[in-house]
Amino acid sequence: MNEGHWMKLKKAVKAVRARLDKTPDVAMTLGSGLSNAFGVPEDGITIPCSEIPGFPVPTIAGHSGEFWIGPLCGKTVLIQRGRSHYYEGISIEDVSFATRMFALLEIPTLIVTNASGAINPDFRAGDLVLLTDHINMLGVNPLRGANIDEMGPRFPDMSAAYTPELRAIAKGVATAEGIEVKEGVYVAALGPSYETPAEIRAFHAMGADLVGMSTVPEVIVAAHAGMKVLGLSIATNLAAGVDPNATLTHDEVIEATRLKGEQMRRLLMGVLKKL
Ligand code: HPA
Repeated sequence: MNEGHWMKLKKAVKAVRARLDKTPDVAMTLGSGLSNAFGVPEDGITIPCSEIPGFPVPTIAGHSGEFWIGPLCGKTVLIQRGRSHYYEGISIEDVSFATRMFALLEIPTLIVTNASGAINPDFRAGDLVLLTDHINMLGVNPLRGANIDEMGPRFPDMSAAYTPELRAIAKGVATAEGIEVKEGVYVAALGPSYETPAEIRAFHAMGADLVGMSTVPEVIVAAHAGMKVLGLSIATNLAAGVDPNATLTHDEVIEATRLKGEQMRRLLMGVLKKL
């Protein structure tokens, strides 16, 4: 086992646990542009990443890098604002550090959100999509190396990593709230360059509906640790080449996310109430 990683995790968990009154019911990792979807609720506490020993501080614009823990919709919720990505040049252990921390805090449920490019020709920019499954094209797996037996098995099952019951709850809330949601398979590309049209055609042939640069490492370590997972994406743009006349910028991704943030917030609040 990577003793250093395990020691760092245990130290970080101890520091966070010392500041919690009770174990949160759910952890939410909010992606690009969604970090502020919940504003700053009055109650609760904020723990900056920099106050957690060994915690890798995110480096990308639009991510503030902190945890808020408090009451939301009748649940105790931990919100991770900003996440780390493999393209930042950090280790894959550091990318999945926060999620492993949640698992070790014994938080049973993880909700992950992200921004993505739409590959499926039936999808439109601005669509909200429930993740049904993923394809890992990062070229790396966060469970590589000696297994941390305390967290989960060497060869974890990934056949229902995106928990079907949570998806059913989210669909029910969407219907009740009049929010349209689609379902799709997410492929994680390394980035930070956006994909080429040829890569998008290849991903389409592989069965992917959405492409992004995050989420998969977190879902792998969550599944390893037996956490339930709900994944929600905002398709902020059509992936490269899907609209042959379009080009892609990070600003456009952030803006599209901001516009759909309100619907995402309503959907997530509805899900929290039903958990
Ligand atoms: N590709 C990869 N990541 C993304 C995209 C995309 O088109 N849009 C938002 N995140």
